[in-house]
Amino acid sequence: MTKSKIVVVFYSTYGTNHGIAVAAAEAAEAAGAEVRLRRIPETAPDAVVASQEAWKAQADRMADIDKISNEDLLWADGFYLSSPTRFGGMASQTRAWLDTLGGLWMAGSLAGKTITASATAQNRNGGTEGAIQQTYVSAMHFGMIPIAPGYTDPVKSEDGGNPYGFSAQPGELDETGRKSVAHQARRLVDLTTKLAK
Ligand SMILES: Cc1cc2nc3c(=O)[nH]c(=O)nc-3n(C[C@H](O)[C@H](O)[C@H](O)COP(=O)(O)O)c2cc1C
Repeated sequence: MTKSKIVVVFYSTYGTNHGIAVAAAEAAEAAGAEVRLRRIPETAPDAVVASQEAWKAQADRMADIDKISNEDLLWADGFYLSSPTRFGGMASQTRAWLDTLGGLWMAGSLAGKTITASATAQNRNGGTEGAIQQTYVSAMHFGMIPIAPGYTDPVKSEDGGNPYGFSAQPGELDETGRKSVAHQARRLVDLTTKLAK
């Protein structure tokens, strides 16, 4: 069987979404997909990033991960996208990147590809559901197929229960978080592979 091609793409200021993306990429690979891990470009000026030690440290940690390109988008059959929440929506860096995809939208190049999303927020009820839903709404404009985890695995009753996608507060992923991300990534791979048949 042909391997499905998955791009795991993330934006992260302090590292949480980077950790989620790495866990998702590992799980997608273990599920049999060909995987590319990519980061969404920073839009804040270098001087602003450098002014915060934690922000600069994260920028350095992910410097060797390639920035997402249109070629990656054309290559992929499906996407796992992870982004922080900002004032109840996705981070502006994620939005700014989506806003560069008008050409692909116009050509219909992303139609029929799958997507699943995660989000983080400082507060448990700080807006992750909205951030993920916004991601799916934009994806639907491209004709993409959102693949939410729903409650398709018992881990969803342990991880905070966001049916739209894994959500977490800042910090390293705990074991339940890892299980949930892995379930979501596996489900993406399984359904993407079925659609490709
Ligand atoms: C400008 C700004 C706005 C934010 N807005 C929210 C928010 O609406 N709700 C919330 O709970 N956390 C909010 N946060 C906290 C971020 O969601 C948190 O830093 C992020 O999820 C951590 O992810 P990262 O480690 O991948 O950067 C905000 C942070 C910043 C810098």
